[in-house]
Amino acid sequence: MRVLGIETSCDETGVALYDSEKGLLADALFSQIDLHRVYGGVVPELASRDHVKRLVPLLREVFARAGVAEGEVDGVAYTAGPGLVGALLVGGACARALAFGWGVPALGVHHMEGHLLAPMLEEQPPAFPFVALLVSGGHTQLVRVDGIGHYRLLGESLDDAAGEAFDKTAKLMGLPYPGGPEIARLAQQGTPGRFTFPRPMTDRPGLDFSFSGLKTATLNAWRELQASAAADDQARCDVALAFEQAVVETLTIKCRRALKETGLKRLVIAGGVSANRHLRASLEKMAHGLKGELFYARPAFCTDNGAMIAYAGCQRLMAGQQDAAGIEARARWPMEELPPIFA
Ligand code: KG4
Ligand code: ZN
Repeated sequence: MRVLGIETSCDETGVALYDSEKGLLADALFSQIDLHRVYGGVVPELASRDHVKRLVPLLREVFARAGVAEGEVDGVAYTAGPGLVGALLVGGACARALAFGWGVPALGVHHMEGHLLAPMLEEQPPAFPFVALLVSGGHTQLVRVDGIGHYRLLGESLDDAAGEAFDKTAKLMGLPYPGGPEIARLAQQGTPGRFTFPRPMTDRPGLDFSFSGLKTATLNAWRELQASAAADDQARCDVALAFEQAVVETLTIKCRRALKETGLKRLVIAGGVSANRHLRASLEKMAHGLKGELFYARPAFCTDNGAMIAYAGCQRLMAGQQDAAGIEARARWPMEELPPIFA
């Protein structure tokens, strides 16, 4: 089965063609980062308007690069949520119209299921069951995954998501949007041990997270440096490193606990923050210590992209799922509501 995937949930327009037999045929992405950077974050109305501009050229590009005639697909998958409703509606309307015109089924895909399954596009995909750590700009969740749609939430963030904490902390320190890659870049030049920030909620049982206190602790340290005229470039790198280390260690402690509690050996990380190199290294070491294995997608498929939506959509369309003739767009959508696929 060949499926076209369309992602427009936030500030990236992603389009891809996935073939269940041949794998990924082509994918293309337009990132709106430069458009939103001047505002320090995503402006929803600007995001929607830009998706309108980018979608058709990206669709043409993907079909051309795949060497597939436009419309030669068996289904169209699009991100139906969670995300910015206006942005979702652009992708949804486009996907629905194309599917109607081509006489094929359309399916609204859950954005976080897309992230969760993105490592399946790699050469050595994880086998079920596994524990997944989903770390994006909007979500931080630990999920037990027994198959597609067989999800049990083990823990989640009670306030800011991990990516959101990176973005907000970076903003408070005067760094550009998005803050995650920026903090990671500065942290490389950081002096280990100069600052130490709390590892929130690691000293009590459970698998939930909280990152807003860490953000405040980081801001306080930064303000103190500013007040004593010591907030120079090196201090910024040192604070960035201490913040990153606190997030990485907190996530590592919780993932270890989740593996121990479930008795599972495979850990999958997905979503924008899973591109972070220190996080990957720390989790790799931890999983190795438990005689387990860590799986993740290539960096371009950690952040938003069309390939993950084409892949997830293909699995569900192959299982016979399809939507009625409407456009789905949901700001919120618990992943546990998704119907299971019985393999
Ligand atoms: O998955 P994603 O592209 O979008 C959402 O679904 O939210 O994740 C974007 C998030 C942003 O918060 C961004 O700062 C963060 O992922 N991010 C990173 C890195 N690359 C992206 N955070 C830490 N280190 C990185 N290397
Ligand atoms: Zn995402």
